[in-house]
Amino acid sequence: WVLYAPYVKAINELKAKRNAVILGHNYMTPEIYHGISDFVGDSLQLAIKATEVEADVIVQCGVHFMAETSKILSPSKTVLIPDMEAGCSLAESITAEGVEEMRRRYPGAPVVTYVNTTAEVKAASDICCTSSNAAQIVGAMESDTVIMTPDQYLAQNVARDVPHKKVVWWEGSCIVHEQYSAKDLRDFREWNPGTRLIAHPECPPDVVAEADFSGSTSGILKYVTDEKPEKALLITECSMASNIADELPEVEFVGPCNMCPFMKKITLEKVLWSLHSMEGQVEVEPVMAAKARHAVQAMIDLSR
Ligand code: 13P
Ligand code: SF4
Repeated sequence: WVLYAPYVKAINELKAKRNAVILGHNYMTPEIYHGISDFVGDSLQLAIKATEVEADVIVQCGVHFMAETSKILSPSKTVLIPDMEAGCSLAESITAEGVEEMRRRYPGAPVVTYVNTTAEVKAASDICCTSSNAAQIVGAMESDTVIMTPDQYLAQNVARDVPHKKVVWWEGSCIVHEQYSAKDLRDFREWNPGTRLIAHPECPPDVVAEADFSGSTSGILKYVTDEKPEKALLITECSMASNIADELPEVEFVGPCNMCPFMKKITLEKVLWSLHSMEGQVEVEPVMAAKARHAVQAMIDLSR
């Protein structure tokens, strides 16, 4: 923390000067999560917060699709992402043409698109979802068949939770969560009896089936806070456990974990530079933004 202190001080001063707020995702490193973020949370919480904040500038400490979502919801604000290369394997897996291909394959079926996508893909979809409301959104669709893009594993996990729907999916995946296998979890349980296994729903369905609980990053925090297990293994990105460990000293968080190389592109130095230079402004073409806003707002309205 001694090393971080000058950055934290300089960022907090610049934040006041620019009338900026920092929205930090749960996968940010602890110095960003605890040191400089005004609001922290999962994708849904950050999207809702973007509609509520009154600042002139939003600095999105997360990945590019999150900054784009903030810009879509708050077009009059300046939205900065400290590193334009902070992408996401799910967002890269599909284009608007892919959405149209799914519509041709399943005529009349609504398209529920994960927020981990570009504005272009959101604009081509009927409604968005996040990992904390996906089952609720799919369950609310009128059609028996529902297209989910682009995360095949989230879709398969939702299909299990909403058995009255026929869920079909695009073949995208998250490079962090797809690495876990059900055998990893069985082996871990055998060697570490009594540890609570908690998986993000971007994990394959057999991994989720082996876990004690599955939920979005805020769902994971709520579960651990309510249950306070003696030992917990979070089957998700590494910073999640580091960020919540301080608030939950009675829980021992054990490894291993997987790192998201995209989330880790955001550093204190880059946040300071973007606030100083105002570089890294996210823009979304207005007509596309209006269409994408419709899909994101429909999700927010349904999840309230
Ligand atoms: P959450 O919505 O659960 O925070 O997930 C975002 C994400 O990118 C997980 O990999
Ligand atoms: Fe994308 Fe996976 Fe990284 Fe989340 S953890 S940003 S889904 S690559």
